[in-house]
Amino acid sequence: MSTPQHKIGSGFGARSTADDVLHGIDLSGQLAIVTGGYSGLGLATTRALTRAGAHVVVPARRVGPARQAVEGIDGAEVDELDLSDLGSVRAFAERFLATGRSAEIVIDSAGIMACPETRVGPGWEAQFATNHLGHYALVNLLWPAIARGRGRVVSVSSAGHRRTGIRWDDVHFERDYDKWVAYGQSKTANVLFAVHLDRLARDQGVRAFALHPGGILTPLQRHLAKEEMVAAGWIDEEGNPVEPSFKTPEQGAATQVWAATSPQLAGMGGVYCEDCDIAEVTPAAARSGVRDHAVDPEQAARLWALSAELTGIDAFTAH
Ligand SMILES: NC(=O)c1ccc[n+]([C@@H]2O[C@H](COP(=O)([O-])OP(=O)(O)OC[C@H]3O[C@@H](n4cnc5c(N)ncnc54)[C@H](OP(=O)(O)O)[C@@H]3O)[C@@H](O)[C@H]2O)c1
Repeated sequence: MSTPQHKIGSGFGARSTADDVLHGIDLSGQLAIVTGGYSGLGLATTRALTRAGAHVVVPARRVGPARQAVEGIDGAEVDELDLSDLGSVRAFAERFLATGRSAEIVIDSAGIMACPETRVGPGWEAQFATNHLGHYALVNLLWPAIARGRGRVVSVSSAGHRRTGIRWDDVHFERDYDKWVAYGQSKTANVLFAVHLDRLARDQGVRAFALHPGGILTPLQRHLAKEEMVAAGWIDEEGNPVEPSFKTPEQGAATQVWAATSPQLAGMGGVYCEDCDIAEVTPAAARSGVRDHAVDPEQAARLWALSAELTGIDAFTAH
């Protein structure tokens, strides 16, 4: 299979920050929607995009803490959105569309990781529902504003996608729930979503990207016991980070900001990035790159169809 998944030699790398990749880029007049833009990488993304002149809408399931987190950031506004609740996604999209604004950048950064088995909505597994289906619904419902913006949609995935493809016979883990396999499936879904969205949207001037931000200690690890993180070699017994490849939130935000704004990616799309470059497709044992199960166009189309069926939402196909 020929693939667009090849490094382009961006000149940036694992230690580049969001401000580094925005150097010389003026986002004045552009509107960005950053889910999770009030914590971890999302907050670093909100800060960097506003510094470059963008107006950033931060959808938040906890509006109060979100307002506190973005207080003092000029150009950031908060509105309510719970990605695990389709009614909430619809209400957010309706409010946004009613303002008549366009969205030049959408960064799907919100996510949950390795939570205990949790059911949301009609019994959906929470990581697949929040990380993938919520963002699928959000982008499709916001499509009129995104199409007007003729910009980019960025889906924040993870190296965790390497663990598994989509469990087609049991996407909601009716059996054998494993918190890491469920996270991995949801992060594969994030990549496949970008692959198919790019195929559907490019003729209308919108491109889509997916990425792994790197490893960063943030509230994302809230569901992990200290012992688990010590055993993984991430922190010591006192809770200090010991994994040398960990990034700061500003470094972790760099790849999503690069994917959302870099002129180096003009004319490209539907690819998975890491360390501010396009990643290579790598075999099972490799510790970097993207696995082919996440960038397979047929799998991407199949996931789109399943997501449309589950949510009843699809901006691209008349029902
Ligand atoms: N940190 C890493 O090492 C790492 C590595 C690979 C990939 N990633 C990916 O990077 C993204 C950002 O992670 P992070 O480290 O920045 O985590 P974080 O600090 O926990 O931020 C995640 C954000 O998502 C929000 N969120 C969770 N569930 C939501 C829901 N149902 N509706 C709306 N918002 C919701 C959280 O809101 P609340 O605060 O209200 O819960 C929070 O603002 C995630 O997609 C993650 O999978 C992170």
